[in-house]
Amino acid sequence: MNRRRMNKFAFLALCALFFAGTAAAKPGDTAKGKEIYDKRCTWCHGAEGDGAGAAKDMLNPPPRDFTSGNYKIKSSSFEDMAPNDDDIFRMIRDGMPGTSMPGWSDVLKEQDIWDLVAYVKTFAGYDEPPAAQVDFGTRIASSGESIAKGRKLYEEGDRCVECHGKSGKGSASKRLKGDAGERTWPRNLTKPWTFIGSSDPKDIFARLSTGIAGTEMPSFADPRSRKKLSIEERWHVANYVASLARTGRKVDAENTVIKADKVEGDLPGTPDDARWEKSTPSTFYLVPQLIAEERFFTPANDTLTVRALYNDKMIAMLLEWDDRTRSIPGDEAAEKLADAPIAEDGVAVQLPVTLPKGMEKPYFGMGDAKHAVNIWHWKSGAKGSTESIDLANSRGFREIEKRDAAGLKAKASYSDGTWKVLITRPLTTSSPDKDIQFTEGGFIPVAFAAWDGSNGEKGSKHTMTTWYWLLLKPATGTRPLVAALMIMGLFAGGLLWWARSAKPAA
Ligand code: HEC
Ligand code: HEC
Repeated sequence: MNRRRMNKFAFLALCALFFAGTAAAKPGDTAKGKEIYDKRCTWCHGAEGDGAGAAKDMLNPPPRDFTSGNYKIKSSSFEDMAPNDDDIFRMIRDGMPGTSMPGWSDVLKEQDIWDLVAYVKTFAGYDEPPAAQVDFGTRIASSGESIAKGRKLYEEGDRCVECHGKSGKGSASKRLKGDAGERTWPRNLTKPWTFIGSSDPKDIFARLSTGIAGTEMPSFADPRSRKKLSIEERWHVANYVASLARTGRKVDAENTVIKADKVEGDLPGTPDDARWEKSTPSTFYLVPQLIAEERFFTPANDTLTVRALYNDKMIAMLLEWDDRTRSIPGDEAAEKLADAPIAEDGVAVQLPVTLPKGMEKPYFGMGDAKHAVNIWHWKSGAKGSTESIDLANSRGFREIEKRDAAGLKAKASYSDGTWKVLITRPLTTSSPDKDIQFTEGGFIPVAFAAWDGSNGEKGSKHTMTTWYWLLLKPATGTRPLVAALMIMGLFAGGLLWWARSAKPAA
């Protein structure tokens, strides 16, 4: 064989390898897998694979104990505990949303992941591939008719409602736990981007067929279950579940500005006023507060949706978030569901007292010595007491001054797993040195915090967002020139913000 032919041969071999794709499981090397595992995975999963890594007590769900043999996401039959190699590969590559299990595709090569698959399986002694697979039959495409059938099956005989609730938000009043004794929550089916095994109807079909090992989510393919569903029925339910998505409440990382529209006449007086539907929602991630004592790592609220409107006198903000439990201290039913002791649910808005020059923002956590912030703190009330809103000024965590909240008002509604809190305040107040004064057209920094009192969240134990912007959009229409100037201003403002945030932190 001459050199040219050999090169051609090597090239073809490489092509064949490349086009083989990622679908087929590749044999992994357990010894190499162990090396990578010992470096990357023990902190959570433990050196013995028993889930007892150093981070164990900080995480819910806890890191998987691989010796249990439980795999949540699998495409093998419900009767077989062992997953397919592809299933494990996918979880390691993509991670599991809403849990601390990260995806490794940026860090590890494909072969590294196959080596890990081979090694991780040894903890449960899975050396044979599973005997039977999920039977997908013939996929039924989504349609109005299929969704209607799915809905009936979902609600019938308390099949899914028992845990996921009628609206799918997982707010049913039932306490669930996992095999390790940890508290678990049914998934909020209206947020399919939080599914650990993807929200493609085919994946939902697989979850309905296998159940989720180690949790109370059952298999509906099991003929012994009184709730069992045929293949056809499982497709209808999968199509129905996929239809529950409220994509308007998904976080859009590009959106950092809450746009308040100006209204003529009165502002909406209640959180459920239909006029809110017309205003633009912005949804932000809530992350656990990790800066001040006391830190916490197991939050229950994940996102917050904000809308704002104003007229010539007042500003109104509507804060909306899914919270599975209405936390009423002193209420027996609420206490049964909670991880006692129960505290009030709450939400807070943080605004700088004086508008920063340019696009500078106050320090992330409750202001700092030079930059005081206003904190509007709403609490849901206890048994026999009503909701309340407090005003405080703060310069960091230790310097907090309680103030008279005159002029600041709140009104909330809780229904079906969702809190909506309407907060109003006059645009200007009589103490401009202590209160933010709202003006049209400028970018106002704003941040939020939330508390789930049934999850032990109280005081500095809460979730929070980073700083975003609030913009009171001037009314447009009659004066096109003003509108054009405003758009230019917005553009310049946006650029300035971008330029500043692109700079490395000082
Ligand atoms: C920061 C903590 C953390 C690290 C680091 C971590 N994991 Fe995980 N992992 C978890 C948690 C938590 C779960 C359980 C999620 C759940 O139950 O929903 C999990 C679950 C898994 C599962 C189970 C998938 C299933 O279908 O049930 C596999 C496999 C896995 N991890 C592999 C790995 C490997 C391999 C590494 C190292 C490359 C690793 N993990 C590193 C936290 C971690
Ligand atoms: C006994 C309680 C219970 C019942 C009944 C139940 N589920 Fe679940 N379901 C759960 C729990 C708990 C989880 C979350 C498991 C976890 O922690 O990963 C879950 C998770 C899910 C998920 C998320 C899958 C993913 O990839 O993350 C879907 C979809 C789902 N359930 C659909 C359904 C449907 C549809 C029904 C009825 C046919 C149903 N469930 C019935 C408890 C239940």
